[in-house]
Amino acid sequence: MKRTMKFVYGFLSLFFFVSCLHEKELKPICSGDIWPDDKGVHINAHGGGILYHKGTFYWYGENKSDSTSNAMVGIMCYSSKNLTDWKNEGAVLPVVSDESCEIVQGCIMERPKVIYNSKTKKFVMWFHLELKGQGYAAARSAVAVSDLPTGPFKYLRSLRPNAKKFPYDMTERQRNILDTLDSQHYQKWWTPEWNEAVKNGLFVKRDMQNGQMARDMQLFVDDDGKAYHIYSSEENLTLHIAELNDEYTGHTGKYVRVAPAGHNEAPAIFKADSTYWMISSGCTGWDPNEARMFSATNIFGPWTQHRNPCVGPKSEITFGGQSTFVLKLPGKKNAFIFMADIWKPKHPSDARYIWLPIQFKNGNPVVEWMDSWTLDFFDKRTAEK
Ligand code: DGJ
Repeated sequence: MKRTMKFVYGFLSLFFFVSCLHEKELKPICSGDIWPDDKGVHINAHGGGILYHKGTFYWYGENKSDSTSNAMVGIMCYSSKNLTDWKNEGAVLPVVSDESCEIVQGCIMERPKVIYNSKTKKFVMWFHLELKGQGYAAARSAVAVSDLPTGPFKYLRSLRPNAKKFPYDMTERQRNILDTLDSQHYQKWWTPEWNEAVKNGLFVKRDMQNGQMARDMQLFVDDDGKAYHIYSSEENLTLHIAELNDEYTGHTGKYVRVAPAGHNEAPAIFKADSTYWMISSGCTGWDPNEARMFSATNIFGPWTQHRNPCVGPKSEITFGGQSTFVLKLPGKKNAFIFMADIWKPKHPSDARYIWLPIQFKNGNPVVEWMDSWTLDFFDKRTAEK
């Protein structure tokens, strides 16, 4: 009975979402423009991600102030039924004034993502945390939970994932030579020897005792309910995909390394049919660079690198942005929105959003700039070219 009710509820909310889209004139999505919320103020949810839950979209992101990218307010949430009109739900994980607390005002809280755990009925938020006054040295990930999508989220802890765990995909040969990889011997970076040592796990070994660095991050819940934490690790040189526990609040110890020494940030992952795709960026601070793309048929790899998914003018700098999330639209087959941030380091709160539909050409995702588009783009798609 409970299951039937759940199904009916799910069906009705999907139906409501789809009919909402058609009911009224669709509002255009204009990447790069000011995007006002319900109070007419530019949405302040940067490096964000979206959760769809029971007919409503929740957009979580970093609140940025006018003069600093450090966290002065906390993690924001906006809600919407149609993806274009957003209600400001406020800071759902606010910073605190207690200097002994990790999320004290002035720390760095970046790239928050929220997933729903249907077993515990909790909304679980992970984000990249840097401790106040330490620049980007801490390289930690933090977790918070809430009973409601609109918070308040309860801060649990921060950590460096997978202390004392070998990567699941580390070869026997790599394990055997790990003892010889002493970072003292590789003081000079970017040499061929250093590059080879990084690939073989130089920084994995260095951080084995206290856990792996975890900066730019993403969350992904697979069809079987297993959740994964994907983050830039090893001095931003290598991405890790780490399995989360059943509660989604910690790591199981199983993780793989993607593109070792490839220097990737800003991972955004999605699954189309049975292929996992990941779009990422290079590492150039707040400046845009060329996006990268990988695919795999198993989340634990092997992952294959493809060409830049962006095409057309300014595709070599991701249209001025940096990936943050790929949103899967409910109720539509293989309908995904690529989301990116156009950072404004001199005026952080003025950072803009890029939302573009993902198209598939010859089976591969492609992102093309559009000044303006509407969500019925996905209904007008013709057979793949
Ligand atoms: C690039 C990252 O993707 C951002 O989230 C932020 O950490 C900046 N670097 C800081 O320079």
